[in-house]
Amino acid sequence: MSAMTRPFDRPVLHAPPLILRRPEPRDSDAIVRICGDAEIARRLARVPHPYGATDAAFFLDHVVPHEWVWAITLDGDDTLIGVVGLTPGDDPASAELGYWLAREHWGRGIMPRSAGAVVGYGFDTLGLSTITSGYFEANPASGRVLAKLGFVETGRQMGDCLATGAPVSTVRLVLQPAGFA
Ligand SMILES: CC(C)(COP(=O)(O)OP(=O)(O)OC[C@H]1O[C@@H](n2cnc3c(N)ncnc32)[C@H](O)[C@@H]1OP(=O)(O)O)[C@@H](O)C(=O)NCCC(=O)NCCS
Repeated sequence: MSAMTRPFDRPVLHAPPLILRRPEPRDSDAIVRICGDAEIARRLARVPHPYGATDAAFFLDHVVPHEWVWAITLDGDDTLIGVVGLTPGDDPASAELGYWLAREHWGRGIMPRSAGAVVGYGFDTLGLSTITSGYFEANPASGRVLAKLGFVETGRQMGDCLATGAPVSTVRLVLQPAGFA
């Protein structure tokens, strides 16, 4: 299937011990709890702080239908513990990878595994030729996730953080199928 068709299909992705599925309205409370954590919001560009049910509804109603975004769950427990997705770019052959994970699950390799499944879907099923991503300089943990997948830095620029309202130095990266680890 070509990226040109853009159906925003959301098959369940299996990345043992994780299952990635479409985010649903029943995930609202989990999304509010996790995105309401200031330590998460300040590392992200598009998450406001404080974060409430209206913000989760906006995500579920206006982001989920228009992006390839998955809820991360542990096999055997349907609770959303994080989100990973690809945002389409102006170039139909390119998309931007983004993700967040509940703090109690950090440091166990969950995001490299989840993002790896999504990147594989982007290249193999969507036919993307380029996946971009970025992280705030002050958030090297995210840089580690991207390095583990094979992303390479393309430059640094100032970006916005909705939660703090302050401009932040942002590292920009790119990955092509041949570099996917
Ligand atoms: C960035 C994030 C997704 C990493 O996910 P993860 O599943 O914890 O990733 P990993 O287990 O591979 O750990 C990545 C790095 O985090 C660091 N780390 C490990 N345990 C940690 C902990 N308890 N607390 C903080 N950082 C930790 C390590 O540097 C690790 O790199 P290493 O494996 O080379 O030692 C997660 O920290 C997160 O959701 N942060 C908040 C939101 C965010 O930053 N999103 C990305 C915006 S660009």
